[in-house]
Amino acid sequence: MLSETAALLAWYDLHRRTMPWRGLRDPYAIWVSETMLQQTRVETVLGYFPRFMEAFPTLADLARAEEAEVLKQWEGLGYYSRARHLHAGARQVMAEYGGQLPQTAAALEKITGIGPYTAGAIASIAFGERVPAVDGNVIRVVSRLRGLRDSFALPETRRTLQRLAAELVPEERPGDFNQALMDLGAGLCAPGTPDCSLCPLKGFCAACASGDAEALPNLPQKKAPKDLPYDVTLILRGNMVLMRCRTERLLQGLWVYPMTAGHQEPEALQTALEKQTGLKPSLPRPIGEARHTFTHQRWLMRLWLTSAEEGSPASGWRFITLKEMQALALPTAMRAPILKVRQLLEALDSE
Ligand code: ADE
Repeated sequence: MLSETAALLAWYDLHRRTMPWRGLRDPYAIWVSETMLQQTRVETVLGYFPRFMEAFPTLADLARAEEAEVLKQWEGLGYYSRARHLHAGARQVMAEYGGQLPQTAAALEKITGIGPYTAGAIASIAFGERVPAVDGNVIRVVSRLRGLRDSFALPETRRTLQRLAAELVPEERPGDFNQALMDLGAGLCAPGTPDCSLCPLKGFCAACASGDAEALPNLPQKKAPKDLPYDVTLILRGNMVLMRCRTERLLQGLWVYPMTAGHQEPEALQTALEKQTGLKPSLPRPIGEARHTFTHQRWLMRLWLTSAEEGSPASGWRFITLKEMQALALPTAMRAPILKVRQLLEALDSE
C-alpha cells in the first residue's frame, strides 16, 4: 500500500490545479503569489498576479517602486497592509541581504511581511526545505486527518497542529506536498460536507473513519463585524472632487472622500465638514447609500453631495480631477461614491 505521503502526491500529480505561479522557482514570484493568496481566493489572485509581475518583474523593481504604485497594483485585492509589508520587505532584502531572499524558513521569517505561513511556503516551494506551510486549508485537512478535536481557541492546539503538519511533510517534494494539502483543502476536503469517497487520504484519515469530518476543525465562533455608520460627502470644485490619502491603519495609503462618523442632519454634517476640511461647503444633499464589509467592521454609508468653490483645504486634503483619480489607489469600500463622482465629473467634462 502507498504511504499517505505518496498517495497525496500521486493524487496531486493527477489533479493539481493549474496556476500561473506553479512551476516557478523564482522565490520572489512565490513570495508575491503566496502573499496575494492569503485571505484571498485563487480565482481572484489569477487576475492580479500576472499584472503585478509585469509591473514589478524582480524584487529589485519592487523595492525601487513608490508605495503608491504598489498599492495601485493591489487596488481591489483588499488587506492592503500585505502590499505595504511586501514592499517594505523587498526594500529590506535589497538593503540587508544583497537582493537575495534567504533560503530557510527560519531566516525568511526575519523579513517584514513574511510570517510563518509565507516562510514555509517559500522555503518548501522555492528551496525544497522540509517545512510545513500552515494556512486555513491545511489546518482543516490535518485536523481531520489526525482527528485533532481540541479547540483552536487554545494556543496549544495551534502548536499541536503545527507539529502534526511538520511531521507530515516529506523530504522529497516538500513544496508539492504542501500545495497538495492546500488543493485538497480547497476541493475535496472543503468546509461543510467534505467528499471523503474521492479523497486520496480516506484510508488514513481519523475523521473519515469516525464519519464526522465536517465537524472539524474545532474553530472558535467568528465575531460578527461591528456596524459603523458614516456620512461620505463628495465636495466638488469645478471638475474636481476633494480627497485625502488615509493614514489610519485600515486602508492606509488609499484615497477616500470626507467621512464623518454617524448619520447626521445636513446642517450638522455641513459644520462637521467645515471642521474636517477647513472649507465652507454649501448645504450637502443626500444622493444615496452604500455599505462595505471588512473583517471586523461594516461601514454603513450615506452619500452626500455638496460643493466648495473657494478657500484652501486643510492639510492632507486635495482637489482631484477625474484623470488624477484614475492614477490613485482607491479602495473597494469607496466603489459607490467613486461611481457617483465618475458620473458627475464626466457630465461636467463633456459640457
Ligand atoms: N493557497 C495559498 N497558496 C497556495 C498554493 N501555492 N497552492 C494552492 N493554494 C494555495
